[in-house]
Amino acid sequence: MGSKPLNEARKTISLMKVLVVGQGGREHALVWKISQSPLVKKIYCAPGNGGIGKQVECINIKSEDIEGLKKFALKEKIDLTIVGPETPLVKGIIDEFEKANLKIFGPNKKASQLEGSKVFSKNLMKKYEIPTAEFEVFENSKKAISYVIPCLERKKGSIVVKADGLAAGKGVVVCKTEDEALDAIVSIMDDKIFGDAGKKVIIEECLEGEEVSILAFTDGEHIKLLPSSQDHKRIYDGDKGPNTGGMGAYSPAPIVNENLLPIIEKNIIRRTIEGLKKEGIVYKGIIYAGLMIKDGKPKVLEFNVRFGDPETQAILPRIETDIIQLIMATIDGNLNNVDCNLKNESCVCVVLASGGYPGNYQKGKVINGLDEIKDSENIVVFHAGTKKLESGEILTDGGRVLGVSALGKNIKEAIDNAYEAVSYINFENMSYRKDIGKKALKD
Ligand code: AMP
Ligand code: GLY
Repeated sequence: MGSKPLNEARKTISLMKVLVVGQGGREHALVWKISQSPLVKKIYCAPGNGGIGKQVECINIKSEDIEGLKKFALKEKIDLTIVGPETPLVKGIIDEFEKANLKIFGPNKKASQLEGSKVFSKNLMKKYEIPTAEFEVFENSKKAISYVIPCLERKKGSIVVKADGLAAGKGVVVCKTEDEALDAIVSIMDDKIFGDAGKKVIIEECLEGEEVSILAFTDGEHIKLLPSSQDHKRIYDGDKGPNTGGMGAYSPAPIVNENLLPIIEKNIIRRTIEGLKKEGIVYKGIIYAGLMIKDGKPKVLEFNVRFGDPETQAILPRIETDIIQLIMATIDGNLNNVDCNLKNESCVCVVLASGGYPGNYQKGKVINGLDEIKDSENIVVFHAGTKKLESGEILTDGGRVLGVSALGKNIKEAIDNAYEAVSYINFENMSYRKDIGKKALKD
Protein backbone atom coordinates (compact mmCIF):
# COMPACT_ATOMS: atom_id res chain seq x y z
CA MET A 1 0.00 0.00 0.00
CA GLY A 2 1.08 3.60 -0.57
CA SER A 3 2.22 5.35 -3.70
CA LYS A 4 5.66 6.81 -4.40
CA PRO A 5 4.76 10.49 -3.87
CA LEU A 6 3.12 9.57 -0.57
CA ASN A 7 6.19 7.75 0.63
CA GLU A 8 8.27 10.79 -0.34
CA ALA A 9 5.84 13.04 1.55
CA ARG A 10 6.23 10.78 4.54
CA LYS A 11 9.90 11.63 4.80
CA THR A 12 9.27 15.37 4.90
CA ILE A 13 6.16 15.79 7.04
CA SER A 14 5.44 14.61 10.53
CA LEU A 15 3.06 11.70 10.69
CA MET A 16 -0.41 12.20 12.07
CA LYS A 17 -2.33 11.03 15.10
CA VAL A 18 -5.94 10.48 14.03
CA LEU A 19 -9.11 10.14 16.13
CA VAL A 20 -12.19 8.49 14.61
CA VAL A 21 -15.48 9.23 16.40
CA GLY A 22 -18.18 6.54 16.41
CA GLN A 23 -18.72 2.84 16.97
CA GLY A 24 -20.38 1.18 13.99
CA GLY A 25 -19.43 -0.71 10.86
CA ARG A 26 -18.91 2.60 9.06
CA GLU A 27 -16.31 3.65 11.63
CA HIS A 28 -14.57 0.27 11.39
CA ALA A 29 -14.36 0.75 7.62
CA LEU A 30 -12.91 4.24 8.14
CA VAL A 31 -10.34 2.96 10.64
CA TRP A 32 -9.41 0.13 8.24
CA LYS A 33 -8.93 2.52 5.34
CA ILE A 34 -7.09 5.17 7.40
CA SER A 35 -4.72 2.51 8.72
CA GLN A 36 -3.52 2.00 5.13
CA SER A 37 -2.35 5.62 4.91
CA PRO A 38 1.39 6.15 5.10
CA LEU A 39 0.65 9.61 6.49
CA VAL A 40 -0.69 8.25 9.79
CA LYS A 41 1.28 6.94 12.78
CA LYS A 42 -1.46 6.31 15.36
CA ILE A 43 -5.24 5.88 15.27
CA TYR A 44 -7.68 6.13 18.17
CA CYS A 45 -11.40 5.40 18.02
CA ALA A 46 -13.99 6.72 20.49
CA PRO A 47 -15.79 4.68 21.62
CA GLY A 48 -15.14 1.99 18.95
CA ASN A 49 -16.22 -1.66 19.18
CA GLY A 50 -14.80 -5.16 19.54
CA GLY A 51 -13.36 -5.38 16.03
CA ILE A 52 -11.99 -1.84 15.96
CA GLY A 53 -10.34 -2.59 19.32
CA LYS A 54 -8.40 -5.44 17.71
CA GLN A 55 -6.88 -2.98 15.26
CA VAL A 56 -6.44 0.37 17.07
CA GLU A 57 -6.77 1.88 20.55
CA CYS A 58 -10.38 2.43 21.61
CA ILE A 59 -11.14 5.25 24.05
CA ASN A 60 -14.18 5.06 26.27
CA ILE A 61 -15.75 8.41 25.33
CA LYS A 62 -19.20 8.49 23.75
CA SER A 63 -19.54 10.05 20.30
CA GLU A 64 -21.96 12.68 21.63
CA ASP A 65 -19.67 13.82 24.46
CA ILE A 66 -18.17 16.73 22.54
CA GLU A 67 -16.43 18.23 25.58
CA GLY A 68 -14.86 14.86 26.50
CA LEU A 69 -13.67 14.29 22.93
CA LYS A 70 -12.20 17.79 22.73
CA LYS A 71 -10.30 17.35 26.00
CA PHE A 72 -8.92 14.04 24.75
CA ALA A 73 -7.87 15.54 21.40
CA LEU A 74 -6.09 18.42 23.11
CA LYS A 75 -4.35 16.17 25.64
CA GLU A 76 -3.16 13.65 23.04
CA LYS A 77 -2.32 16.34 20.47
CA ILE A 78 -4.57 14.72 17.86
CA ASP A 79 -3.72 16.07 14.38
CA LEU A 80 -7.03 15.11 12.74
CA THR A 81 -10.45 14.03 14.02
CA ILE A 82 -12.92 12.31 11.68
CA VAL A 83 -16.57 12.15 12.73
CA GLY A 84 -18.72 9.16 11.74
CA PRO A 85 -22.27 9.72 13.06
CA GLU A 86 -24.64 12.66 12.50
CA THR A 87 -25.56 13.57 16.08
CA PRO A 88 -22.21 15.14 17.12
CA LEU A 89 -22.11 16.99 13.77
CA VAL A 90 -25.61 18.39 14.24
CA LYS A 91 -24.70 19.31 17.85
CA GLY A 92 -21.72 21.34 16.59
CA ILE A 93 -18.60 19.22 17.24
CA ILE A 94 -16.85 20.84 14.26
CA ASP A 95 -17.38 24.38 15.56
CA GLU A 96 -16.17 23.40 19.06
CA PHE A 97 -13.00 21.69 17.78
CA GLU A 98 -12.21 24.54 15.39
CA LYS A 99 -12.56 27.07 18.23
CA ALA A 100 -9.88 25.05 20.04
CA ASN A 101 -7.67 25.06 16.89
CA LEU A 102 -8.12 21.33 16.38
CA LYS A 103 -8.31 19.97 12.83
CA ILE A 104 -11.55 18.07 12.26
CA PHE A 105 -13.40 16.65 9.25
CA GLY A 106 -17.11 17.25 8.67
CA PRO A 107 -19.64 20.04 8.10
CA ASN A 108 -20.14 22.64 10.84
CA LYS A 109 -23.33 23.07 12.85
CA LYS A 110 -25.05 25.38 10.35
CA ALA A 111 -24.21 23.13 7.39
CA SER A 112 -25.28 20.01 9.30
CA GLN A 113 -28.85 21.33 9.38
CA LEU A 114 -29.06 19.69 5.97
CA GLU A 115 -29.56 16.42 7.89
CA GLY A 116 -30.53 17.85 11.30
CA SER A 117 -33.66 19.59 10.01
CA LYS A 118 -35.74 18.17 7.19
CA VAL A 119 -37.65 21.48 7.05
CA PHE A 120 -34.37 23.36 6.46
CA SER A 121 -33.33 20.83 3.85
CA LYS A 122 -36.66 20.77 1.96
CA ASN A 123 -36.92 24.59 1.96
CA LEU A 124 -33.38 24.82 0.58
CA MET A 125 -34.24 22.33 -2.17
CA LYS A 126 -37.38 24.29 -3.07
CA LYS A 127 -35.56 27.62 -3.17
CA TYR A 128 -32.70 26.36 -5.35
CA GLU A 129 -34.81 24.07 -7.58
CA ILE A 130 -33.20 20.83 -6.49
CA PRO A 131 -35.53 18.01 -7.58
CA THR A 132 -37.39 16.46 -4.63
CA ALA A 133 -40.90 15.30 -3.63
CA GLU A 134 -43.69 17.90 -3.23
CA PHE A 135 -44.17 18.74 0.44
CA GLU A 136 -45.87 20.88 3.08
CA VAL A 137 -44.59 21.79 6.56
CA PHE A 138 -46.83 21.71 9.67
CA GLU A 139 -46.31 22.97 13.20
CA ASN A 140 -49.68 21.83 14.50
CA SER A 141 -51.13 18.31 14.42
CA LYS A 142 -54.73 19.41 13.72
CA LYS A 143 -53.67 21.28 10.58
CA ALA A 144 -51.50 18.34 9.50
CA ILE A 145 -54.42 15.94 9.93
CA SER A 146 -56.89 18.11 8.04
CA TYR A 147 -54.37 18.34 5.19
CA VAL A 148 -53.51 14.66 5.05
CA ILE A 149 -57.02 13.19 4.82
CA PRO A 150 -58.11 14.80 1.52
CA CYS A 151 -54.58 14.30 0.26
CA LEU A 152 -54.79 10.51 0.74
CA GLU A 153 -58.25 10.42 -0.82
CA ARG A 154 -57.12 12.43 -3.83
CA LYS A 155 -53.91 10.53 -4.46
CA LYS A 156 -55.25 7.05 -3.73
CA GLY A 157 -51.69 6.13 -2.91
CA SER A 158 -49.24 6.53 -0.06
CA ILE A 159 -48.13 9.67 1.69
CA VAL A 160 -44.96 10.19 3.73
CA VAL A 161 -44.87 11.75 7.20
CA LYS A 162 -41.46 12.93 8.44
CA ALA A 163 -40.34 14.34 11.76
CA ASP A 164 -38.26 17.47 11.23
CA GLY A 165 -35.30 16.61 13.44
CA LEU A 166 -33.00 13.63 14.06
CA ALA A 167 -34.87 10.49 15.07
CA ALA A 168 -32.22 7.74 14.80
CA GLY A 169 -33.46 6.80 11.33
CA LYS A 170 -37.01 6.16 12.60
CA GLY A 171 -38.62 9.53 11.87
CA VAL A 172 -40.01 8.68 8.41
CA VAL A 173 -43.32 6.84 8.02
CA VAL A 174 -44.65 5.82 4.62
CA CYS A 175 -48.43 5.69 5.17
CA LYS A 176 -50.86 3.79 2.95
CA THR A 177 -54.03 4.44 4.96
CA GLU A 178 -55.64 7.31 6.81
CA ASP A 179 -55.18 5.46 10.13
CA GLU A 180 -51.45 5.06 9.53
CA ALA A 181 -51.07 8.75 8.67
CA LEU A 182 -53.07 9.94 11.69
CA ASP A 183 -51.14 7.60 13.96
CA ALA A 184 -47.81 8.89 12.62
CA ILE A 185 -48.80 12.56 13.04
CA VAL A 186 -50.20 12.11 16.56
CA SER A 187 -47.29 10.02 17.82
CA ILE A 188 -44.68 12.43 16.41
CA MET A 189 -46.38 15.77 17.21
CA ASP A 190 -48.61 15.13 20.25
CA ASP A 191 -47.05 12.09 21.95
CA LYS A 192 -43.60 13.49 21.09
CA ILE A 193 -42.00 10.06 20.60
CA PHE A 194 -38.93 11.80 19.17
CA GLY A 195 -39.06 14.76 21.59
CA ASP A 196 -38.41 18.18 20.03
CA ALA A 197 -37.47 16.53 16.71
CA GLY A 198 -41.23 16.20 16.16
CA LYS A 199 -42.22 19.84 16.79
CA LYS A 200 -42.64 20.20 13.05
CA VAL A 201 -43.53 17.56 10.48
CA ILE A 202 -43.24 17.36 6.73
CA ILE A 203 -45.98 15.69 4.76
CA GLU A 204 -44.66 14.67 1.43
CA GLU A 205 -45.58 13.01 -1.83
CA CYS A 206 -44.57 9.34 -1.94
CA LEU A 207 -42.02 8.73 -4.68
CA GLU A 208 -41.65 5.49 -6.56
CA GLY A 209 -38.60 4.09 -8.29
CA GLU A 210 -35.23 2.74 -7.25
CA GLU A 211 -33.20 4.17 -4.37
CA VAL A 212 -29.49 4.91 -4.62
CA SER A 213 -26.95 6.69 -2.47
CA ILE A 214 -24.52 9.21 -3.91
CA LEU A 215 -21.77 10.39 -1.61
CA ALA A 216 -19.27 13.10 -2.40
CA PHE A 217 -16.38 14.91 -0.76
CA THR A 218 -16.72 18.67 -0.99
CA ASP A 219 -14.61 21.54 0.30
CA GLY A 220 -17.43 24.01 -0.30
CA GLU A 221 -16.14 24.77 -3.81
CA HIS A 222 -14.98 21.55 -5.45
CA ILE A 223 -16.78 18.21 -5.55
CA LYS A 224 -15.35 14.68 -5.79
CA LEU A 225 -18.07 12.10 -6.24
CA LEU A 226 -17.57 8.71 -4.64
CA PRO A 227 -18.83 5.64 -6.49
CA SER A 228 -22.59 5.04 -6.38
CA SER A 229 -24.04 2.50 -3.99
CA GLN A 230 -27.32 1.00 -2.88
CA ASP A 231 -28.48 0.17 0.63
CA HIS A 232 -31.05 -2.53 1.54
CA LYS A 233 -33.25 -0.96 4.21
CA ARG A 234 -35.82 -3.69 4.91
CA ILE A 235 -35.07 -6.65 7.16
CA TYR A 236 -36.26 -9.44 4.85
CA ASP A 237 -35.40 -10.58 1.33
CA GLY A 238 -37.33 -8.91 -1.48
CA ASP A 239 -37.47 -5.61 0.49
CA LYS A 240 -40.10 -6.98 2.86
CA GLY A 241 -40.67 -6.30 6.56
CA PRO A 242 -39.79 -3.31 8.74
CA ASN A 243 -37.04 -0.77 8.04
CA THR A 244 -33.61 -1.24 9.58
CA GLY A 245 -30.39 0.74 9.74
CA GLY A 246 -29.40 -1.11 6.52
CA MET A 247 -28.93 -4.83 5.89
CA GLY A 248 -26.30 -4.62 3.19
CA ALA A 249 -25.02 -2.58 0.29
CA TYR A 250 -23.35 -2.85 -3.06
CA SER A 251 -21.27 -0.56 -5.23
CA PRO A 252 -21.53 0.47 -8.00
CA ALA A 253 -25.31 0.76 -8.50
CA PRO A 254 -25.78 0.07 -12.23
CA ILE A 255 -28.86 2.30 -12.42
CA VAL A 256 -26.53 5.30 -11.99
CA ASN A 257 -25.05 5.12 -15.46
CA GLU A 258 -22.60 7.47 -17.16
CA ASN A 259 -25.43 9.74 -18.33
CA LEU A 260 -27.06 10.05 -14.94
CA LEU A 261 -23.98 10.74 -12.84
CA PRO A 262 -23.20 14.20 -14.30
CA ILE A 263 -26.88 15.16 -13.94
CA ILE A 264 -26.80 14.21 -10.26
CA GLU A 265 -23.56 16.13 -9.76
CA LYS A 266 -24.84 19.27 -11.52
CA ASN A 267 -28.53 19.43 -10.55
CA ILE A 268 -28.31 18.00 -7.05
CA ILE A 269 -24.89 18.09 -5.39
CA ARG A 270 -23.56 21.32 -6.95
CA ARG A 271 -26.86 23.19 -6.67
CA THR A 272 -27.03 22.24 -2.99
CA ILE A 273 -23.46 23.32 -2.19
CA GLU A 274 -23.95 26.57 -4.11
CA GLY A 275 -27.38 27.17 -2.59
CA LEU A 276 -25.88 26.77 0.86
CA LYS A 277 -23.11 29.19 -0.06
CA LYS A 278 -25.71 31.78 -1.10
CA GLU A 279 -27.25 31.31 2.36
CA GLY A 280 -23.84 32.09 3.87
CA ILE A 281 -22.95 28.46 4.67
CA VAL A 282 -19.73 26.82 3.48
CA TYR A 283 -20.19 23.04 3.42
CA LYS A 284 -17.05 20.96 3.97
CA GLY A 285 -17.07 17.21 4.42
CA ILE A 286 -19.08 14.35 3.00
CA ILE A 287 -22.46 15.13 1.48
CA TYR A 288 -24.72 12.12 1.02
CA ALA A 289 -27.78 12.34 -1.22
CA GLY A 290 -30.37 9.57 -0.84
CA LEU A 291 -32.08 9.55 -4.23
CA MET A 292 -35.10 7.97 -5.87
CA ILE A 293 -34.55 7.30 -9.58
CA LYS A 294 -37.53 6.93 -11.90
CA ASP A 295 -37.39 6.97 -15.70
CA GLY A 296 -33.79 8.15 -15.53
CA LYS A 297 -34.71 11.17 -13.36
CA PRO A 298 -33.31 11.55 -9.83
CA LYS A 299 -35.17 13.17 -6.93
CA VAL A 300 -33.77 13.73 -3.44
CA LEU A 301 -35.33 11.71 -0.61
CA GLU A 302 -32.94 12.97 2.02
CA PHE A 303 -29.54 14.49 2.60
CA ASN A 304 -27.11 13.16 5.17
CA VAL A 305 -24.02 15.04 6.29
CA ARG A 306 -21.74 12.03 6.80
CA PHE A 307 -20.67 8.71 5.36
CA GLY A 308 -23.54 6.21 4.96
CA ASP A 309 -23.78 2.97 6.89
CA PRO A 310 -23.53 0.33 5.38
CA GLU A 311 -22.71 2.09 2.07
CA THR A 312 -19.23 3.05 3.34
CA GLN A 313 -18.41 -0.63 3.87
CA ALA A 314 -19.07 -1.23 0.16
CA ILE A 315 -17.45 1.99 -1.12
CA LEU A 316 -14.14 2.27 0.75
CA PRO A 317 -12.78 -1.14 -0.37
CA ARG A 318 -13.11 0.16 -3.97
CA ILE A 319 -11.08 3.33 -3.42
CA GLU A 320 -7.38 3.32 -4.30
CA THR A 321 -6.59 6.86 -3.18
CA ASP A 322 -5.35 7.51 0.34
CA ILE A 323 -8.43 8.67 2.27
CA ILE A 324 -6.30 10.96 4.43
CA GLN A 325 -5.25 12.86 1.30
CA LEU A 326 -8.91 13.32 0.33
CA ILE A 327 -9.87 14.39 3.84
CA MET A 328 -7.00 16.85 4.28
CA ALA A 329 -7.68 18.37 0.84
CA THR A 330 -11.34 18.81 1.83
CA ILE A 331 -10.41 20.60 5.05
CA ASP A 332 -7.75 22.75 3.34
CA GLY A 333 -10.03 23.69 0.41
CA ASN A 334 -7.93 22.16 -2.38
CA LEU A 335 -9.91 19.07 -3.30
CA ASN A 336 -9.33 19.96 -6.97
CA ASN A 337 -5.69 18.85 -6.51
CA VAL A 338 -6.52 15.24 -5.56
CA ASP A 339 -7.90 12.51 -7.77
CA CYS A 340 -10.18 9.86 -6.32
CA ASN A 341 -8.96 6.69 -8.05
CA LEU A 342 -11.03 3.53 -7.96
CA LYS A 343 -10.26 -0.15 -8.22
CA ASN A 344 -11.91 -1.64 -11.26
CA GLU A 345 -13.92 -4.00 -9.05
CA SER A 346 -17.37 -4.20 -7.47
CA CYS A 347 -18.04 -4.60 -3.77
CA VAL A 348 -20.87 -6.18 -1.79
CA CYS A 349 -21.39 -5.89 1.98
CA VAL A 350 -23.72 -8.35 3.75
CA VAL A 351 -24.84 -7.34 7.26
CA LEU A 352 -25.23 -10.06 9.90
CA ALA A 353 -27.81 -9.10 12.53
CA SER A 354 -28.91 -10.33 15.96
CA GLY A 355 -32.07 -12.37 16.48
CA GLY A 356 -35.04 -10.00 17.00
CA TYR A 357 -33.49 -7.03 15.15
CA PRO A 358 -34.87 -4.41 14.28
CA GLY A 359 -37.14 -4.97 17.30
CA ASN A 360 -35.78 -5.98 20.71
CA TYR A 361 -32.70 -8.02 19.97
CA GLN A 362 -30.43 -10.39 21.85
CA LYS A 363 -26.88 -9.53 22.93
CA GLY A 364 -23.90 -11.35 24.42
CA LYS A 365 -23.80 -14.28 21.95
CA VAL A 366 -20.39 -15.75 21.14
CA ILE A 367 -19.38 -15.14 17.52
CA ASN A 368 -17.67 -18.14 15.92
CA GLY A 369 -15.67 -18.47 12.75
CA LEU A 370 -14.12 -15.00 12.50
CA ASP A 371 -10.58 -16.42 12.64
CA GLU A 372 -11.34 -18.68 9.70
CA ILE A 373 -11.75 -15.66 7.48
CA LYS A 374 -8.44 -13.96 7.00
CA ASP A 375 -8.86 -10.35 5.86
CA SER A 376 -7.42 -10.50 2.39
CA GLU A 377 -7.28 -8.44 -0.81
CA ASN A 378 -10.89 -9.47 -1.43
CA ILE A 379 -12.62 -9.94 1.92
CA VAL A 380 -12.86 -7.81 5.03
CA VAL A 381 -15.17 -8.24 8.01
CA PHE A 382 -16.25 -4.94 9.57
CA HIS A 383 -17.57 -5.03 13.12
CA ALA A 384 -20.63 -2.99 14.17
CA GLY A 385 -22.30 -4.22 17.39
CA THR A 386 -19.53 -6.36 18.91
CA LYS A 387 -17.63 -6.46 22.18
CA LYS A 388 -14.19 -7.98 22.84
CA LEU A 389 -13.65 -9.85 26.09
CA GLU A 390 -10.25 -9.93 27.79
CA SER A 391 -10.00 -13.55 26.71
CA GLY A 392 -10.12 -12.28 23.11
CA GLU A 393 -13.55 -13.78 22.52
CA ILE A 394 -15.91 -11.57 20.49
CA LEU A 395 -19.55 -11.26 21.58
CA THR A 396 -22.55 -9.72 19.86
CA ASP A 397 -23.40 -6.33 21.37
CA GLY A 398 -25.90 -4.65 19.03
CA GLY A 399 -28.61 -5.14 16.42
CA ARG A 400 -26.36 -5.06 13.40
CA VAL A 401 -23.33 -7.12 14.40
CA LEU A 402 -20.97 -7.53 11.43
CA GLY A 403 -20.67 -6.41 7.82
CA VAL A 404 -18.91 -8.84 5.52
CA SER A 405 -17.51 -6.93 2.52
CA ALA A 406 -16.13 -8.63 -0.55
CA LEU A 407 -14.66 -7.39 -3.81
CA GLY A 408 -15.12 -9.19 -7.12
CA LYS A 409 -14.49 -8.43 -10.77
CA ASN A 410 -18.24 -7.75 -11.07
CA ILE A 411 -21.25 -7.69 -8.73
CA LYS A 412 -21.97 -11.38 -9.28
CA GLU A 413 -18.48 -12.38 -8.19
CA ALA A 414 -18.56 -9.96 -5.25
CA ILE A 415 -21.89 -11.49 -4.11
CA ASP A 416 -20.45 -15.01 -4.31
CA ASN A 417 -17.31 -13.99 -2.41
CA ALA A 418 -19.30 -12.22 0.31
CA TYR A 419 -21.71 -15.12 0.93
CA GLU A 420 -18.85 -17.63 0.84
CA ALA A 421 -17.20 -15.67 3.70
CA VAL A 422 -20.52 -15.36 5.56
CA SER A 423 -20.80 -19.16 5.56
CA TYR A 424 -17.88 -19.37 8.03
CA ILE A 425 -19.49 -17.12 10.64
CA ASN A 426 -22.20 -18.01 13.12
CA PHE A 427 -23.75 -16.95 16.39
CA GLU A 428 -27.02 -17.98 17.99
CA ASN A 429 -30.04 -16.66 16.07
CA MET A 430 -27.88 -14.83 13.51
CA SER A 431 -29.96 -13.42 10.65
CA TYR A 432 -29.08 -11.87 7.31
CA ARG A 433 -30.57 -11.21 3.90
CA LYS A 434 -29.76 -13.70 1.17
CA ASP A 435 -30.44 -11.29 -1.69
CA ILE A 436 -27.92 -8.46 -1.23
CA GLY A 437 -26.86 -7.23 -4.65
CA LYS A 438 -29.52 -9.16 -6.56
CA LYS A 439 -31.14 -5.95 -7.79
CA ALA A 440 -27.87 -4.94 -9.46
CA LEU A 441 -27.87 -8.19 -11.46
CA LYS A 442 -31.35 -7.38 -12.73
CA ASP A 443 -30.31 -3.84 -13.71
P1 AMP B 1 -35.33 9.79 4.81
O1 AMP B 1 -34.78 9.77 6.21
O2 AMP B 1 -36.05 11.04 4.45
O3 AMP B 1 -34.41 9.34 3.78
O4 AMP B 1 -36.28 8.55 4.69
C1 AMP B 1 -35.88 7.23 4.99
C2 AMP B 1 -36.44 6.29 3.96
O5 AMP B 1 -37.84 6.51 3.81
C3 AMP B 1 -35.88 6.51 2.56
O6 AMP B 1 -34.66 5.84 2.39
C4 AMP B 1 -36.98 5.93 1.72
O7 AMP B 1 -36.92 4.52 1.69
C5 AMP B 1 -38.22 6.34 2.47
N1 AMP B 1 -38.74 7.63 1.96
C6 AMP B 1 -38.45 8.87 2.40
N2 AMP B 1 -39.10 9.81 1.69
C7 AMP B 1 -39.82 9.16 0.77
C8 AMP B 1 -40.70 9.58 -0.27
N3 AMP B 1 -40.99 10.85 -0.48
N4 AMP B 1 -41.24 8.62 -1.05
C9 AMP B 1 -40.98 7.32 -0.84
N5 AMP B 1 -40.16 6.85 0.13
C10 AMP B 1 -39.59 7.75 0.93
N1 GLY C 1 -27.67 3.90 4.82
C1 GLY C 1 -28.46 4.91 5.40
C2 GLY C 1 -27.75 5.89 6.20
O1 GLY C 1 -26.55 5.85 6.35
O2 GLY C 1 -28.41 6.79 6.71
